[in-house]
Amino acid sequence: MNQQTVARPDVERIARLLAEARERTLLLAAPVGDDDLRAQHDPLMGPIVWDLGHIAAFEELWLTRNLDGAIEFSEMPGLYNPFEHPRRVRGALPLPGIAECVAAMEEIRARVLERLESVDLAGGPPLVRGGYVYHMVAQHEYQHNETILQTLQLKRGEPYRAPRAIVPPPGRETAAPGAMARFPGGRVEIGTADRAWAYDNERPRHAVALRPFLIDILPVTNGDYAAFIDAGGYRERRWWSDAGWAWLQDAKVDAPKHWERSGAHGWTARSMDRTAPLDTMKPVCHVCWHEAEAYARWAGKRLPTEYEWEAAASWDPATGAKRLYPWGDEPWAPALANLDQLAFDTAQVGAYPRNVSPIGCYGMVGDVWEWTATDFGGYPGYESFPFPEYSEAFFGPEYKVLRGGSWATRPGAVRNSFRNWDYPIRRQIFAGFRCARDE
Ligand SMILES: [Fe+2]
Repeated sequence: MNQQTVARPDVERIARLLAEARERTLLLAAPVGDDDLRAQHDPLMGPIVWDLGHIAAFEELWLTRNLDGAIEFSEMPGLYNPFEHPRRVRGALPLPGIAECVAAMEEIRARVLERLESVDLAGGPPLVRGGYVYHMVAQHEYQHNETILQTLQLKRGEPYRAPRAIVPPPGRETAAPGAMARFPGGRVEIGTADRAWAYDNERPRHAVALRPFLIDILPVTNGDYAAFIDAGGYRERRWWSDAGWAWLQDAKVDAPKHWERSGAHGWTARSMDRTAPLDTMKPVCHVCWHEAEAYARWAGKRLPTEYEWEAAASWDPATGAKRLYPWGDEPWAPALANLDQLAFDTAQVGAYPRNVSPIGCYGMVGDVWEWTATDFGGYPGYESFPFPEYSEAFFGPEYKVLRGGSWATRPGAVRNSFRNWDYPIRRQIFAGFRCARDE
């Protein structure tokens, strides 16, 4: 066999992967008009057309320029460099219209595919070995899809007409509200050794010793959270940390973002263009870390550490085996979890009976990202790869780790070891939480 016939399936697989990522990006943008694509809808989020241009600029940098020799930059200098242009000012940039932007994306893609033909995926440097850099670029596009969906949820004017293609199954009774599963503690392996898909911050795989703990079987639901509000949760100083109380005085909110009072005791919640009476069986979404922490204190619990979260999602204490996803190692499929965007909303808890971890926790992947108690940092022995600006630049106590992905996450951008991070005051992300407790 010559080298070309060996490499061919990989080349075709990668070309399909990139094409599929682009197809989704354009599907999400399709219902949005040119003015709305270029508008700054919220100080927290840049215009969507900036994300599109940046997706292509990142692809051009990593899949053409950085493929040979030393890595020049980690982000393309110029209009689409996120460090040069913070989100809140991107609306003032000279951004192109959508037609011009898409033409540039296509031109870059053509050069990328041409270059792909001569890449040594089997024996090249670590950047390309096993297709890593292509997977990194695809995941980057997936992650910007979720960013775009955050922007669309905050959109000014007419709500985003979500191209809903999936109706999640209804929830089922899986556990009483607040019921907890037990993790027996012991030696657990955290992170991964994978070098084909995983990011640097998920490595190295390493052992930690955990004490026994309890963790909620289900994510905290809208119904659970409404009880906290009804009990005066937002008015009582004692449930909040100093930083949380300071945030609350400043933010002056009394409910998750996108909830509106309706009637004497009721609420409505909005997801894109759908506003409905609060569904008490859906996981609470659009709460910040401070709200999650206050709820947990009120409930007599606490947030899990990220190690506890990963152990509860992935580790089988009976066998000492680690799962890639809560349900096992098989790749995501629509029946397994509410991922992949096309529901454009959360599903009721228990809707996916196979989405259960070895110790019996449901819904750890999908629906909502879950806040953990842990500050974002490098694991022992962490090495930045292929550039420090992806993870290392964000290590520190100002960011909290989130786990598990949301309905707006593409399946290729989440796994049990995947670590997301954000400021503890952020509510535009599709985030909820579950609680833990010492035994
Ligand atoms: Fe980016």
